[in-house]
Amino acid sequence: METVRVVLLGFGTVGSGVYDSILHTHQEKLEKVIGKKVEIVGILVKTEKERQLPGDVVVTTNIDEILSLPSIDYVFEAIVGIEPAYSYIKLFLDRGCHCISANKELLANRGEELSEYALERGKFLTFEAAVAGGIPLLRTIIQLLQVNGILVLEGILNGTSNYILSKMRNEKLSFEECLQEAQQLGYAEANPESDISGRDAFYKQMILSSLIYHDQPDWEKVERIGVEQVALEDLVLGEGHGLRLKLLASLRRENEGIQATVKPTFVSSEHPLYNVEGVDNGIVIKTDLVGTLMLQGPGAGSKATASAMIEDLVQIEQQKEPLQKVHRYSYQAQNEKENQQSIYLALFPLQTKEEWLSLKAVINENLNQVNILQEVVKEIDGSIFGSFLYEGALESISLPVLYKRYPVSPIGLKRGISNVVTS
Ligand SMILES: NC(=O)c1ccc[n+]([C@@H]2O[C@H](COP(=O)([O-])OP(=O)(O)OC[C@H]3O[C@@H](n4cnc5c(N)ncnc54)[C@H](OP(=O)(O)O)[C@@H]3O)[C@@H](O)[C@H]2O)c1
Repeated sequence: METVRVVLLGFGTVGSGVYDSILHTHQEKLEKVIGKKVEIVGILVKTEKERQLPGDVVVTTNIDEILSLPSIDYVFEAIVGIEPAYSYIKLFLDRGCHCISANKELLANRGEELSEYALERGKFLTFEAAVAGGIPLLRTIIQLLQVNGILVLEGILNGTSNYILSKMRNEKLSFEECLQEAQQLGYAEANPESDISGRDAFYKQMILSSLIYHDQPDWEKVERIGVEQVALEDLVLGEGHGLRLKLLASLRRENEGIQATVKPTFVSSEHPLYNVEGVDNGIVIKTDLVGTLMLQGPGAGSKATASAMIEDLVQIEQQKEPLQKVHRYSYQAQNEKENQQSIYLALFPLQTKEEWLSLKAVINENLNQVNILQEVVKEIDGSIFGSFLYEGALESISLPVLYKRYPVSPIGLKRGISNVVTS
């Protein structure tokens, strides 16, 4: 049987998952599917330490030792950060290897350039694992939605944030308590900054933007807000309106260019992502032909990423020629009322219920500026909170109370919501 020779760059969560799947759990199936034996011949790591690996695999901290191995067919890149991963991938492409990467930071920054580099050499650079882990999202977009125009994509692309928001709402816990639990369970890193600040989701969104539009918005202009400032009462008030808060990455192309935001956004129970809870990721794609599609599944972890990377290898083996760039026309979402993000939830901490009445009196004098769709007043842990679901320019009215404001995804949101007051 012919042999495919593989090297791994990185042997952490992702690299070790690939190793186990290729050589243990899924070896037989993989060989049957591609009709070749898959051998891991070298592993690059950063630090020298004892690892439980067989002696015939070269394990080294020296890239030259890996590069000098004979006849490498594939490199699985699963190290961290832009460099040295960028330079390594180029070296392996120069050597005629196909590259399969999970490195979202690298791909968000240099993915377009590396894809061109691979294409010029007639090699594949694939990276399904870098966006939404085990969910076959990129391939769905590249291969299965070629004629469909993508009007808007909304995604929960970070499992850690989704876990924290779900747990806060379900168990009425604070952000800090849920973050700590996520860290204990291994869902969040010791340094969770990238997850909770929305940076991780942003990288994935930029990879998607390159894939769909062959372009990215100006990074400085992308509104990126994480989940650190979300308070329990925000979630409880949202529930009063039948809404759940998700860290949503939203991507669409309009006249002004690519519009991208990553921010906590409420979704209604009719939104396909409403029930995507815990560490799962979920992606909704609204298209102009098939309509609305949704994909959901594990967005991170050893097995999920190994699955995506090994399926990439299978696709390359079956496809033989690298995918040419898919040409996509300019999608406009302008005339779709549903796609205009103009509905918000405003949350007001109140001293008394009378304060709510005076607030409403000010709003009533400015009904030309805002249209209140629904209101809720609730007592939470001895404090009173009021909230409005509204459309319009609340920020242009001078209000007597400070407030917090979240966008509400228009997908699935029913218009003509009646005013309901609960307390
Ligand atoms: N974890 C996930 O669920 C997940 C999901 C999707 C994508 N990713 C991406 O996949 C990549 C790997 O993630 P991970 O979670 O597996 O990280 P990890 O557990 O921290 O493992 C990183 C591995 O890379 C090695 N490494 C780091 N820098 C290196 C360098 N400069 N030269 C050589 N080796 C180096 C480390 O070596 P040592 O063992 O010596 O420290 C380690 O084996 C990251 O880019 C991440 O964003 C991760």
